[in-house]
Parts: sequence; C-alpha cells; structure tokens
Amino acid sequence: MYRIISKTELAEYTVQFDIEAPEVAKKARPGQFVVVRIDEKGERIPLTIADTDTGKGTVTIVVQSVGKTTGQLCSMEAGGTIRDFAGPLGNPTEMVENSTVVCIGGGLGIAPVYPIAKELKSRGNRVLSIMGARSEPFLFWEDRMRKASDEVYIATDDGSKGKKGFVTDALLDIINSGVKVDRVIAIGPTIMMKNVAKTTKPYNIKTIVSLNPIMVDGTGMCGSCRVTVGGKMKFSCVDGPEFDGHEVDFDELMARQKFYRTEEKDAMDKYTHEGGECKCLPTRS
Ligand SMILES: Cc1cc2nc3c(=O)[nH]c(=O)nc-3n(C[C@H](O)[C@H](O)[C@H](O)COP(=O)(O)OP(=O)(O)OC[C@H]3O[C@@H](n4cnc5c(N)ncnc54)[C@H](O)[C@@H]3O)c2cc1C
Ligand code: FES
Repeated sequence: MYRIISKTELAEYTVQFDIEAPEVAKKARPGQFVVVRIDEKGERIPLTIADTDTGKGTVTIVVQSVGKTTGQLCSMEAGGTIRDFAGPLGNPTEMVENSTVVCIGGGLGIAPVYPIAKELKSRGNRVLSIMGARSEPFLFWEDRMRKASDEVYIATDDGSKGKKGFVTDALLDIINSGVKVDRVIAIGPTIMMKNVAKTTKPYNIKTIVSLNPIMVDGTGMCGSCRVTVGGKMKFSCVDGPEFDGHEVDFDELMARQKFYRTEEKDAMDKYTHEGGECKCLPTRS
C-alpha cells in the first residue's frame, strides 16, 4: 500500500498528490511514469512522475479528472492509500548539454515537462519554457517553472494571462526573435504536440514529444499503447513515451485514443450509479 502524504488542488479538476513511495523516488528520472491501481478491482492507469523528494521518500503526481479512475483518485484525501504504484516505467528523457532548449507544457503537460526543464537547467543548458492553457485558472506551477527556466513565456487561448494564443504562437515568437533553438520538448494534448512538431519542422529543430496512448500493463505485453513512429510500430510504454515529433503518426494516435470511448462511458456510468445511488465525480469534459 502507498500512502497519500498530501493533496493540493492546483487548478480546476487538477490535483497534486505526494505519495510515499521511497523506492520509486530513488530510481525515478525525468520523463518516466508510474502505473497506478487504486484498489484490487481498479483499472491500471499511467501517470507521469512530476517530481520526487528522495529525503522524504515521496513521489509527486498531478492528476486531471477525466474519467472513472482519475475521478476516483482525485476524490481521495491525504492519509488514504493506493494499492499499486508500479515504476519507474518508460525511458528517461534524453539529456543534452550546452544547448538552448524550449520546454513546452500545455495544460496538464506542465507537470511532466517541469522535471525535464529542472534537470536540463541543472546541467547548464539555457531553458526557455512556454506554459499554455485555455485560461488563467488552468495554469499551475508557474513558480516551479520559473525556478527551472531562464525565461518563461505564457500563452492562454483567451488572453487572460500572458500572450493571447497558442503555445505555437509563443514558440514562433522565440524562433523569429533570432534565438538559435537546438531542441524543443513538448508535452500536452496530442493536437498541441502535433502542431508544435508542424511548427518546428520547416526550421529543422529536433522536437521531442511525450505520447499518451491508452496503456494497460506498461510493460510491452498487452499491445494497447501501439503507435507508429517513422513508419514503424512502437510500444509507447517501453520504446517511449518520448519520440521524435517529426516522425509520429499523430492522426492514428488520435483515432486510437477514441477507441474505448463506449467502454469508458459504461465504466463511469456503472461506477457512479451503482446500487441506484448517484456518486457522480467532477470530471473535465
Ligand atoms: C505515459 C502517460 C503518462 C500520463 N500521465 C498523466 C498524468 O501525469 N496525469 C494525468 O492526469 N493523466 C496522465 N495520463 C493520462 C491518464 O492515464 C488518463 O487520463 C487515464 O488513464 C484516464 O483514465 P480514466 O478511467 O479516469 O478515464 P477513462 O474513462 O478511461 O477516459 C476518459 C477520457 O480520457 C481519455 N483518456 C484515456 N486514457 C488516456 C490517456 N492515456 N491519455 C489521454 N487521454 C486519455 C479517454 O479517451 C476519454 O476521453 C498519462 C497517460 C500516459 C500514457
Ligand atoms: S501498455 Fe501494454 S504494451 Fe504498452
């Protein structure tokens, strides 16, 4: 059992948990994730390791409530326990030295991009970060991102904070200002990562994205996280989750992400209305 040490509401439908998991904390590297199962009957879901504290033996995860399991997790409180917390899984982010790297976090993607920016900066790279969200209430961890970056740019769809527009607009501003960008790392909704890769392609800037297909076992055995990269079949859990954004078949990924929509809705309906009693969870649509 893994104990929830603390719970913090970061933004609408978005919760930070610090989980007591000393072995995972000791081994985790930026870019890796855990597979969580709340209780014996629960489904397994992948969640990125957003931070660690090896002294306290804790792992930080940031969860957005989008369906049954994430909704159930977000309703848990400090002192509660999680049945399984397997990891660290996946490959760590490839680190570079003496480079200018633009780290882009869109929405929930701010959490997984943070540990990457932090390590890149600690290795002496110049880190320019772009944080994007629909509007200001969905932004979080600006203080952490500022510490982990040389410069931070903010873009919101409605202009409520920072530049009005998408993260790609802020990225183009950086490129057009004449900064020589060696690498871009983008994490966020699939459509955002697709558009970042499209933006950097004409400039030939290496672009890394972290893919989020449906995962079940996280060990390369079940095949559910299959993605096509450079025309070849890859399993995101063991070959990724990070890949060259210019090689990813994003359209296929987006189609596969919708594959289980009926089953996901059935699971949510069954859970929230079991025994005729309504316990609807607040989720972001
Ligand atoms: C490597 C990896 C790291 C992730 N890290 C985080 C994280 O740090 N925090 C976090 O909140 N979520 C993260 N996710 C997404 C998270 O695993 C899903 O939101 C979760 O599995 C949904 O389960 P559910 O039962 O709550 O919702 P479901 O009812 O299963 O799904 C609800 C909705 O979410 C969509 N969805 C399901 N799985 C995913 C997925 N893998 N990615 C995106 N959308 C999905 C469905 O298509 C559906 O529209 C990560 C996914 C991957 C692959
Ligand atoms: S999650 Fe099963 S193969 Fe990747």
